[in-house]
Amino acid sequence: MTPLLIAPSVIAADFGYLRADLARAEQGGADMLHVDIMDGHFVPNITFGPAMVKTMKSLTKLPLDVHLMISRPRKFITAFVEAGAANITFHIECEDQIRTAIDEIVYYSRTAGLAVKPRTPLSAVKEHLGAINRLLIMTVEPGFGGQTFMEDMMAKVKQAVEWRREGGFKYDIEVDGGLNRYTIWPAVRAGAEVIVAGTSLFSQVDLGHAIQDLRDNARDALAYLTAPPIEEEPG
Ligand code: DX5
Ligand code: ZN
Repeated sequence: MTPLLIAPSVIAADFGYLRADLARAEQGGADMLHVDIMDGHFVPNITFGPAMVKTMKSLTKLPLDVHLMISRPRKFITAFVEAGAANITFHIECEDQIRTAIDEIVYYSRTAGLAVKPRTPLSAVKEHLGAINRLLIMTVEPGFGGQTFMEDMMAKVKQAVEWRREGGFKYDIEVDGGLNRYTIWPAVRAGAEVIVAGTSLFSQVDLGHAIQDLRDNARDALAYLTAPPIEEEPG
């Protein structure tokens, strides 16, 4: 199993203090930074483009996990590679040829991820599971930070674990949206390994403590999952 990876979502950072916020994520023990790219078309919001990602890259040593919520990801793969993305994830619901886009990302020696919106069945990505490094299961409707975690998406996470085992695939399973010290319980118990968290991390004064708190809760949730049954007193 992949060790738990914590990915603070930059969308929740204070952009006026971006340098400081990225530094406190790095010093706080984050494993990567999650960068949400929105085009105002695929989702009803706009965030940043390759130039901002390049700036972020210059401000941190953490790998950048770029999440493209854009209709035409292929147009921008080269730009985000050059900006410094370590991983590029795009949506199965986009308008481009899926396998071609995956191949392009892999061609640039970046890891490739596929994301699935809450209302899209997981079966939509099934034929691509052998080709990807990361499967992003959205736990909110993409577009905005600060929304409520959709626990019913955990059925998809469990299915993704099952299909990975059956197919001998290598992708890790990422969840994104509404993750905090409580919702991480069902997430890791279902099998999620990459935890994206925006609001619940950047809203905290002590980001390092908040990251550690997520790790502690994940550990407790998994320990509880595997705890031996309590033996009953005979008679
Ligand atoms: C939603 C984004 C998420 C989200 C995470 O479209 O992909 O990354 O902003 O933020 P929180 O943790 O605040 O839900
Ligand atoms: Zn995201």
